[in-house]
Amino acid sequence: MGKNRICELLGIRYPIIQAPMNWVSGADLVAAVSKAGGLGTIGPNAGSEDITPDVELTGERMRTQIRKVKSLTDAPFAVNVVAGFGDISEDNRNIIKMEWIVEGVSLIFIGTIVGVVTYIGPLGELSRAVYTVVVAGLLALALVSLFTGFKVRFLPFRLCPFILTISAVLIFLGGVL
Ligand SMILES: Cc1cc2nc3c(=O)[nH]c(=O)nc-3n(C[C@H](O)[C@H](O)[C@H](O)COP(=O)(O)O)c2cc1C
Repeated sequence: MGKNRICELLGIRYPIIQAPMNWVSGADLVAAVSKAGGLGTIGPNAGSEDITPDVELTGERMRTQIRKVKSLTDAPFAVNVVAGFGDISEDNRNIIKMEWIVEGVSLIFIGTIVGVVTYIGPLGELSRAVYTVVVAGLLALALVSLFTGFKVRFLPFRLCPFILTISAVLIFLGGVL
């Protein structure tokens, strides 16, 4: 099979490009195709036995596979970058809405308790105890929500843990100190 412009462009011997096939086209297959003179392509979930919609996990999986291909061959290879796995389903959208409502109601509830004890006597022992418990509770919620909760990014932060931590810091500065 003769060389053509594709070969020159990609630096391969034969104008054969292996299609990306999600988890099927892992580092071993990709390295074998590239070594043989074609262009191997790493699939998005290569090296795994399942598909994940998690963008960060997809990136991690790809990074591991890229390193593995590089350790197996110096030949050029391609990486299939997937921009998205489709829209969030209606069920997931409702779960996310519920998380927001629960989060909002909890904050209003906590805010009301803090407001009431502050109104009764901001410097009293009861108030300080409530502030301390509320700050600890908010930080615990922030941690839980960081690892399990709604993960919309806001600047470099995840939104819910960010709001909970800011609330804890404000109550700490205003009440405990
Ligand atoms: C099992 C399987 C998994 C695939 N996974 C991907 C993928 O992750 N990304 C992608 O762009 N295409 C994927 N495809 C599509 C192939 O890359 C290719 O475009 C398709 O098989 C058509 O190729 P053909 O015209 O040479 O038959 C997949 C195809 C198969 C059969």
